[in-house]
Amino acid sequence: MKNAYVTGASQGIGKEFVKAIAKDYNVFLISRSLSDLNKTIAELEPTSRGILKPLAYDLSKKKSWEELSDVMRKDKDFEFLINNAGFGTVGEFANLDLEKELDQINLNVKALVSLSHTALNAFKPRKKGFIINVASIAGFLPAPGSATYAATKAYVKSFTEAIHEEAIPHGIHVQALCPGLTHSQFHQRAGIEKSKYPGFMWQDAKEVAEESLRALYHNQAVCITGMVNQGVVGLTGLLPRSWIRKGAGKFMDTSG
Ligand SMILES: NC(=O)c1ccc[n+]([C@@H]2O[C@H](COP(=O)([O-])OP(=O)(O)OC[C@H]3O[C@@H](n4cnc5c(N)ncnc54)[C@H](OP(=O)(O)O)[C@@H]3O)[C@@H](O)[C@H]2O)c1
Repeated sequence: MKNAYVTGASQGIGKEFVKAIAKDYNVFLISRSLSDLNKTIAELEPTSRGILKPLAYDLSKKKSWEELSDVMRKDKDFEFLINNAGFGTVGEFANLDLEKELDQINLNVKALVSLSHTALNAFKPRKKGFIINVASIAGFLPAPGSATYAATKAYVKSFTEAIHEEAIPHGIHVQALCPGLTHSQFHQRAGIEKSKYPGFMWQDAKEVAEESLRALYHNQAVCITGMVNQGVVGLTGLLPRSWIRKGAGKFMDTSG
């Protein structure tokens, strides 16, 4: 069995990815908390065919993504990377803690770019490999109230679409996954009140991971999950940019 690496694997969308791919892969689960990773592994092990192993790294730190890259380079069976770890902040940019905004760029963008580079160079000689980079439908919008987050996801979407095209001749599948509102710990961590968004807008993390993997099989460059999210993204292509900015700002408004 070949090896897969999933970042942000202890919960949410990452955990559902592990559950789905552990039928075909040994999986290295990466996040900061070793005890959370071990809990997730204990839960998923009974239904997994592959071996599950924890790797505790804080991927907002350069040293961590470099160490993880070294592990991947030495792994002759490395075939699948899912860059899923990420977090968001909400509020007026000028009032947010700058260090946290910069950590967000480190985790959501720099770690993802570095690990994608490592993976592509490992996969090219083998003429096979898979990369999923988790962006968001926020990557289609400038979002007042979540400026840094939406910008990191716009980067991930654009970057990943470009390397998707470069990877085609090498037999490597690369996807930008763009979910919308998905049940996980993400909103609580960002200080977003989940109940302000109607139920029809939400997907389960399991649905998101499964849709992404189906699309990866067909080598789809961008996977926007769910019909509601596809509709929202479709609309952003039709409306004036000033309306989109204002609408996205209202959507992100955390004042109630
Ligand atoms: N939920 C949504 O509505 C939604 C929508 C669109 C896109 N997304 C994207 O989907 C991805 C997964 O989000 P989720 O909803 O599953 O969130 P989540 O439930 O908050 O899970 C985030 C995962 O990332 C890990 N993580 C956070 N900071 C890390 C760091 N510095 N280094 C390593 N691992 C770290 C967390 O574990 P530790 O805290 O233990 O490190 C956890 O395993 C993110 O990229 C997010 O932007 C989510």
